[in-house]
Amino acid sequence: MNVTTVTDGIFRLSANMEDILFEGLWPVPNGVAMNSYIIKGERTAIVDGVCGWDGVPETLFAQLEKIDVDPDSIDYIIINHMEPDHSGWIEDFRKIRPNFTIVTGRKSVPLLEAFFNITDDIMVVGDGDTLDLGDGRVLAFAEIPNVHWPETIATFDTKSGTLMPCDAFGSFGSVGEAMYDDELIPEQIDFYEREAIRYYSNIVAAFSVPAAKAIEKASPLPIRIIAPGHGIVWRKDPMKIVKDYIRYASYQKGPCETEVTVIWGSMYDMTRMGVRPAIEALEAEGIIVHEHKVPGDSWGDIITSVWSSTGVVLAMPTYEYKMFPPMYAILDELGKKTVRNRKAFRFGSYGWSGGAQKELDEVMARHKTGWEFLEPVEFKGKPSDADIDLIKARCRELADQVKEAVASKSDSIPPAPENRHHGRPSVTE
Ligand SMILES: Cc1cc2nc3c(=O)[nH]c(=O)nc-3n(C[C@H](O)[C@H](O)[C@H](O)COP(=O)(O)O)c2cc1C
Ligand SMILES: [Fe+2]
Ligand SMILES: [Fe+2]
Repeated sequence: MNVTTVTDGIFRLSANMEDILFEGLWPVPNGVAMNSYIIKGERTAIVDGVCGWDGVPETLFAQLEKIDVDPDSIDYIIINHMEPDHSGWIEDFRKIRPNFTIVTGRKSVPLLEAFFNITDDIMVVGDGDTLDLGDGRVLAFAEIPNVHWPETIATFDTKSGTLMPCDAFGSFGSVGEAMYDDELIPEQIDFYEREAIRYYSNIVAAFSVPAAKAIEKASPLPIRIIAPGHGIVWRKDPMKIVKDYIRYASYQKGPCETEVTVIWGSMYDMTRMGVRPAIEALEAEGIIVHEHKVPGDSWGDIITSVWSSTGVVLAMPTYEYKMFPPMYAILDELGKKTVRNRKAFRFGSYGWSGGAQKELDEVMARHKTGWEFLEPVEFKGKPSDADIDLIKARCRELADQVKEAVASKSDSIPPAPENRHHGRPSVTE
């Protein structure tokens, strides 16, 4: 854990977590930073917490000393969001400061009891409420429900224009020495862009409508700094992450970028024989292709790729009268993540009856995905040359549809940066 100055009177406590599954499920190959903020007026508040896995309270104690904060002066713990990655440290914190008031949203009250048996010293705040810390430091609160749980609020320091929106505007990716956008070189900003899509698509995607509402709510505020619960702090260009989030939210319904994600699975390489020709046909049309194999590639990687892709190619055989099971699993998850309206194409091999297509139609209908499929290419056993030619032709058709859809995108969606990553994320250093 280390402490740095965000702006006069606001400090950031941050710890990187690596080799974990976020939410017990999502790999974070490049780590994730957990942020907490200390705000000093005449009284001191801590916004959100860094969980106990870094030796809290001992480490916290040492960090507070560095910024000359007496734990006894911390009167308020502001909990923007009850998910334990932000609130789970309360019990440890009590060991160094038994008396404090919890400032939080209305819907946190039952959660505080359920998770921590806390029922006293709770100050409930909602839209328009403020907390005066003295010394001209007045905090304002806004409810941003379902970003990412129903109780979530955002805290805004009116003195410095610092917005602390917890999970909103967050990104994956550990932070090194440089943890503010003004300290990062363009390649590092590009890295966090990809990590922000990973974070958004894996964690926030299903809440894209509430996320868009929260962005709208925040936009009239005189924001000078965005200090999220995960990832880097935006001081030089806070509107960059706001525009990125507007774009990520728009990806839910598409169209997205001029990208196609190819997801394939194959037992004996019959279906696989069509994969390379499909990718080459797409790339020849100027499409950026993300290729993923199932089983093998993580759901986190696949969802990250599909989130920004206007098109999807699915290649899998029939297995026990249904589709190849790992393909079903990822499509079911993509349905739950509310990936809508993709341009799509499926091909695959079968032995005698087929059946993959029927289950594909079912899962798409059940999740109301609105994916628009070209006519599938199915072949018995090994694909013939004619089958391969047909796969290539369909991919060219898909490429045209993708480009057309991207061209029709509304002007209100901020464009993606030109230096966007074309493949998997690279590491920071
Ligand atoms: C365990 C298993 C179950 C299968 N179930 C079916 C089936 O229900 N209906 C069918 O038409 N083919 C079925 N097949 C045949 C495969 O779909 C066929 O071998 C196909 O070529 C496999 O393509 P792949 O090499 O890309 O995996 C099955 C094959 C295996 C190994
Ligand atoms: Fe969360
Ligand atoms: Fe979080």
